[in-house]
Parts: sequence; C-alpha cells; structure tokens
Amino acid sequence: CEFGRFGPLIGAIDEGTSNVKFLVFAANTSEVLTYHQISLKRFSPQEGWVEQDALEILNAVLECIEVTTDNLRKLDINPADVVGIGITNQRETTIVWNSLTGQPLYSAIVWLDVRTSRIVDDLTKLKGAQCINAVVQTSGLPLSTYFSSVKLKWLLKNVTAVKDAVAAGECLAGTVDSWLIWNLTGGVHGGIHVTDVTNASRTQLMSLRSLQWDKGLLRFFDIPPEILPKIKSSAEIYGYISSGPLLGVPIAGCLGDQQAALVGQGCMKFGQVKCTFGTGCFLLYNTGDSIVHSQYGLLTTVAYKLGPDSPPVYALEGSVAIAGDTLQWLRDGLEILSDVKDSEFLAAEVDDKDEGSICFVPAFNGLYSPYWRKDARGIMCGLSGMTRRQHIIRAALEAVCQQTRAVSDAMATDCAPLRRLLADGGMAQNSVLMQMQADLLGIPVVWKVNNICFSFQLFLPSMSKSTVPKNKISFAKYKLN
Ligand code: G3P
Repeated sequence: CEFGRFGPLIGAIDEGTSNVKFLVFAANTSEVLTYHQISLKRFSPQEGWVEQDALEILNAVLECIEVTTDNLRKLDINPADVVGIGITNQRETTIVWNSLTGQPLYSAIVWLDVRTSRIVDDLTKLKGAQCINAVVQTSGLPLSTYFSSVKLKWLLKNVTAVKDAVAAGECLAGTVDSWLIWNLTGGVHGGIHVTDVTNASRTQLMSLRSLQWDKGLLRFFDIPPEILPKIKSSAEIYGYISSGPLLGVPIAGCLGDQQAALVGQGCMKFGQVKCTFGTGCFLLYNTGDSIVHSQYGLLTTVAYKLGPDSPPVYALEGSVAIAGDTLQWLRDGLEILSDVKDSEFLAAEVDDKDEGSICFVPAFNGLYSPYWRKDARGIMCGLSGMTRRQHIIRAALEAVCQQTRAVSDAMATDCAPLRRLLADGGMAQNSVLMQMQADLLGIPVVWKVNNICFSFQLFLPSMSKSTVPKNKISFAKYKLN
C-alpha cells in the first residue's frame, strides 16, 4: 500500500504518573513527527493515599490521540499512515471497572499509595510467611504497598461496588495498560481484556517462570482469577482501535514504562543498565534469560518478551519511589521553586560544602529499593541560619543521586559493577543532576536527545581552573552514528 513522504508511521501512548503523551514516529527513521502531552491530576484523600481518576486518564489518552492526529493533518501527513500503536504505562497502578457499564468502580490506586500498609503487615505475619520475602521466589517481589496485589486485595475488601460487581460476574481488574486496551478496543462493545508480561510481573500475582497467574499467589492474596486480564507477550496484536481518528489501527505492543525505557535505550544484552529519572527513579539491569534473585533488596522482573513465541528476558530492578516528585513538592508544597527546570541553575549556585548545605531524605511514601521500609518518612537535617532555598534544592537532587548509588551498589554486589549508566526521563535534562550522579557513581552517565549524546564523566577537582566550567559540569557531547 502507498504511504506518504515519511513512509509507515507508528503511534505510542506513553501514560506516565504525571503526564500522558501520544507520539507519532516515522517507522523507518524513528524520528518523532509530532506529539501531544497532557498533565494528570493526583488526589490524596488521606495521608499516604494517592489516587487518580481512571476516566481522566482515558480521556487524556483520547485527547492526545485526537490532537496528535490533527497535528499530522496540519503537517500534510495522512493519519492513515499509522500502521500500529504501542502502549507504555505507569506500572502497578490498579483499576477495577464494571464490564457492563464500563464505569470505574473506584479511583485508580496509584503505585505510590501506602493505604495497604496494614494488609502488608498482616500478610507478613501469616503463618509460613515470616518475612517480606514470602512470595519472592515465585513473583520476584517482596511484600510491599507498591504492587497491585495488595491494592486489589484492599479494593475487594473495602469497596462495596467492587464486591457487588465480583458477585455479579461484572468486575474487571487490571493495570493501566489493561484499562486502556479494553477501552480502545471497544469497551462495553467487546473490549479485549489483556495485559502484557511486564505489567503482569508487577502485580505480584504472576509466576516469573510460567508467565501465567499463579494459583498459589492468587490464594495468598485472595484474588478471584476471573477478574484478571489474559497475559500476553509484549509484542503482538491485542486488538484493533474501535473508534476515533485511528479506527482499525492494531494495538501491537505493550510494555510497562520502565521496561519500555530499557528496550528504548537498546539495553538488550546481559549487563546493560538504564536509569529513568521520572516521578520516581528506576534502574533496570538486563539479566538475559536468568531469573536472578537479589540478596540486596532489588526486584526481579520481566524485562520484555518480544512476541508470543519469543523467550522472556528478565531484569533486576532498583526502584526509588520519589525523584522528580521531590521537585514538584518544592514547587507546589514548599513553593520555593516556580518551575522545576529552575532547579538546575539554582542548585548550581551553591556547593554541598557550604555552611548552609543540608541532607534531605524525601521518603514521602516510605523507601523502596534496597531498603523496603514502608514506615520511613522524609527528613531534612543539618539546617542552619545559612541554609537558603538553593541548598534545599541541591539536597533534593543529591537525594536522587544517593538513592541511585545505593541501588547501583546493590546491583554490583548481586551481579557486576555498572560500567556506564544510560539515563532518560524528564529529570535527565538537568545537567547538574547528571554531573552529580556521574561523580557519585564514578562511571559515565550518558543522556541522549535528538541523537546527540551527552556523556557526563567523573568531575576531577584537580582539573585546572581554566578547563573547569563555572558550575563544574564535565561532559563530552558527541553525535551518535
Ligand atoms: O513503577 C512505577 C513506574 O512505572 C512509574 O513511572 O515514569 O511515572 O515515574 P513514572
């Protein structure tokens, strides 16, 4: 069939915790032709609870598709050239909905939410489950408020509409990918209820070996299997878009956002590592066909399975709950930043050796890898009369780097030391953060944009003054082949 000047096009829905995007790429060159982005709201009805509106997520996706396809027309590109779309999404966030009405039965419970703290304690104390590692051999994950298993358990126990829908055989559950695919493929008129192995591996209900819902885990968390989606590979046609400007286009790929970043960074070989600095911060270490169980608080997860007949590839993951969120808090909570982008030059105005410098642990919702302390909360220490907002902002960036360092140390002990770190995510544009990270890890941190690579190297204080840039950034910039 005939395509326009860019050849076949690929669409990608990127549904993150903070923003939704729809991007269109030229399949032959990977060039992004256009995209549209919408910010998402988060609600906190009680301390530690984090919710989103599942319909707002869906409508934001539909609007992004609408605007992006309009953009294509304005660029004189035919949206009919889009031959397929993929979905990548915030993981673990859990949605339950009614199969007959299509209405969500409760808000989306976001991965950061800690309302399930008691449930985690109770499960940890169960006979035969004396520690948080009760289900780690099968699922790869410790007991934690982070995963969908306990969120679903809470919904089934506490929400009458959910209990009623289950009893009536009308309840569907899933992570955000399932919610979107079901709606995009027809919703109440025959929507397809599926998820992919990477998202399923974050529910804590799937066996890492069989890649199917595990009977023992379902029993342990008391989850009825009939409400769960069918598990598919990360690359196959799940269904076709049932309405709108992309009517009839196949949905042909799905990966949790951190696994998608691993694939996008080309980390397809054992030992390759990427780090995404987003709402949280997530390091994934490709372990190939080996299911490696960490001795140091890392997660074992499915990295990808690129086709129904392809073998699964696994990863070790270090998850840091709060990264970019700290800057949002400094902007919206403390109101000491008007734009998170300003953190770059404000942090560069001070030094961590200044008298006013402080230490900041932004454990707003507990600490994830490698600590797994759901009871931890944030702390700032070392405040003095000399402390300025610049010191707090700098300490917020350092907190991200220190947590990444803790994860990288765990990876080095579990597998092998990292040789370089491929960085991405919104915060990776902050060169002060990238430099701090390179200094703290002692390895190059590489950030890529528009095919230009910025490689942040360890900053050596012995460099002669004239060669040291003002804010002590030491990076090499080169074009990728
Ligand atoms: O596990 C949570 C993660 O998928 C969220 O990603 O990009 O929204 O920080 P992000």
